[in-house]
Amino acid sequence: MSGSGAPIAGPLDPAPAAPMTGRGAPRLQIRDVRKTFEGKKPVEALAGVSMSLAANEFVSLVGTSGCGKSTLLSIVAGLIDPSGGDVLVDGASIDGPGRDRGVVFQTYTLFPWLTARENVAFALRGEKMSTKARREVADEHLALVGLESFADAQPRQLSGGMKQRVAIARALSYKPSILLMDEPFGALDAQTRLLMQELLTRVWESHRLTVLFVTHDVEEAVYLSDRVFVMTNRPGRLKDEVRIDLPRPRAIEQQEAPEFLELRRRILASIREESLRVEPGIEEEIRA
Ligand SMILES: Nc1ncnc2c1ncn2[C@@H]1O[C@H](COP(=O)(O)OP(=O)(O)OP(=O)(O)O)[C@@H](O)[C@H]1O
Ligand SMILES: [Mg+2]
Repeated sequence: MSGSGAPIAGPLDPAPAAPMTGRGAPRLQIRDVRKTFEGKKPVEALAGVSMSLAANEFVSLVGTSGCGKSTLLSIVAGLIDPSGGDVLVDGASIDGPGRDRGVVFQTYTLFPWLTARENVAFALRGEKMSTKARREVADEHLALVGLESFADAQPRQLSGGMKQRVAIARALSYKPSILLMDEPFGALDAQTRLLMQELLTRVWESHRLTVLFVTHDVEEAVYLSDRVFVMTNRPGRLKDEVRIDLPRPRAIEQQEAPEFLELRRRILASIREESLRVEPGIEEEIRA
């Protein structure tokens, strides 16, 4: 819409030659990352994604189901190798997972036989620290997510939201500069989800780390982010970049503001356009 100070960058080149940059020197660079899953019927998941995240930037990735969001996040986490392109942290190519990147996934990934504190402390096993120091760091991070009184609880005694808070505490405990989150609140009810969004905003505003966040929830993306990227259908590329210049610190009430609603509308329209776009060849595949 003209005259609304539109922060949308518009359609992007399928594979931009230069990665898009955020503010400041890039902390994380994704350069023309491609992925085809080989097999009897190869699946092209990503067709060249490039983006740069500045230090302390919060960037979300939205797009239709199956467009390659989790694939991209797993590549950045170093859990799977790209078929082409590379990922750099502070200018150096990544080589597998590393302590510079913390990861939180949608499904609860806690060890059921360990307490909340032990789950966090387990992530610190590679650090040169005494058991006591490990315990202290674990407690400090459980307090950060408001779970100080649940340090001795087992995962089965915790609600879904609490388990995700332990997962966040664990991912932050080794002080990564980048946090990768794949639909971390996707399995939570609406009310818990709002609380978790507020918690994450608070943690991010106090810790200031670079976040790459995948979600299906457009309101969540707008509320949390500095920028939101919309992906195309599979094979995934970046389609739109939307800058979220809403003031910080953010409050949940901002979700009612006209600027917020306009950003949400634009992103939803962009995703909807993709979901209505029939994949070339899919009709033949269905008929076959
Ligand atoms: N290990 C794998 N082997 C083969 N194909 C895969 C593998 N992982 C993902 N894919 C395929 O790659 C495409 C992208 O999957 P991905 O999980 O990245 O999508 P997504 O955007 O995260 O979807 P959702 O929003 O549903 O979580 C899909 O077509 C999926 O079937
Ligand atoms: Mg996914």
